[in-house]
Amino acid sequence: MEEAPFVAFRVLDVGPVAHTGLNPEAGGSLKDTRVNSCAPVLTTLGPGRILLLMMIINIVSELGHGHRRFTMQALENDSVLPGSKLDAAKMPGHWLLARMGKKVLRPGGLTLTRRMLDGLAIGPRDRLVELAPGLGATARLALARRPASYVGVDRDGDAVALVRRLAAETATVVEGKKGDAANTGLADGHASVVYGEAMLTMQPANAKRRIVQEAFRVLAPGGRYGIHEMGLRPDDMPEGTKDTIMKDLSEAIRVGARPLTISEWRAVLEAEGFEVVTQEVSPMHLLEPRQMVRDEGVGGTLRILLNIARNPIARRRILGMRRVFQRYESALCGVMLVARKPMIPATLAE
Ligand SMILES: C[S@@+](CC[C@H](N)C(=O)[O-])C[C@H]1O[C@@H](n2cnc3c(N)ncnc32)[C@H](O)[C@@H]1O
Repeated sequence: MEEAPFVAFRVLDVGPVAHTGLNPEAGGSLKDTRVNSCAPVLTTLGPGRILLLMMIINIVSELGHGHRRFTMQALENDSVLPGSKLDAAKMPGHWLLARMGKKVLRPGGLTLTRRMLDGLAIGPRDRLVELAPGLGATARLALARRPASYVGVDRDGDAVALVRRLAAETATVVEGKKGDAANTGLADGHASVVYGEAMLTMQPANAKRRIVQEAFRVLAPGGRYGIHEMGLRPDDMPEGTKDTIMKDLSEAIRVGARPLTISEWRAVLEAEGFEVVTQEVSPMHLLEPRQMVRDEGVGGTLRILLNIARNPIARRRILGMRRVFQRYESALCGVMLVARKPMIPATLAE
């Protein structure tokens, strides 16, 4: 039997972002400015109306684009997307979602990203380093805060090219570097702010450690480090359950996924000398309609759904990913931590 279409919208409760931060910067309103006024209408329309709406958009787009397929390539002005040459059946889930038009690829969505940027308190004197900027969605938000400089380090050359393009949109000095987040080549103390999202989760334990060490090295004393990753809850989850979730997730997204419990994430940062000052958790609803509308807007969500509806391989894979996210809904979450590098090295402070 055919799988239930992904376009069948349900009204889902995204739930609150839990905030236990110590940083007053991060205690602001949860209002997401991208939730535009059409969102409630979209989420309350029945599946029949949504399909009708999609068909109309489809016809208009076909007319407007001379039967050109409504792909991300078209949306991005024919730019090269990371992973664009890979086979849809095997490519990493994040690049498959990007091919369908999805721009926000981190577990807590834009809401948790904005909370991280608030917690990092980016100002005009800050020198930013982003580890694994991907499509550059957070880079744009960070650059809107007008830092002094920005370096994005990604191992994917196409992602680096997307970052370099941002230089034309801002007065900030922007650099894109192709490389490993564990070995950025940047000088000691280069940055006042380092952050990365949805990247450490994909690394084995020793690579997680090396990347956090690199963030510590690159930061000046007093600098801030933000992460936004996939979390497991509760903290005392049995090891066997963790193994099952990691296996199912990795199979679905075709990337080794190793999320940690919230206290394990804190411990990874603290082991390298960071002091965690802010912690926030949100539901893992990356592929749920309400969060998609928040992250991508109404038009963006409809384009993504159209692309998915037209691509049977992508549809099967994305429905599979969504099924795994739903199966472990209560065990998975987005977690955001902001930490500080102490002014005085721990060895001198003792
Ligand atoms: C899931 S995407 C997330 C992209 C972006 N941070 C976001 O949240 O939308 C993962 C990104 O991590 C990059 N990446 C993975 N491992 C890396 C490493 N060791 N060093 C640098 N970049 C890495 C990938 O190329 C990709 O851009």
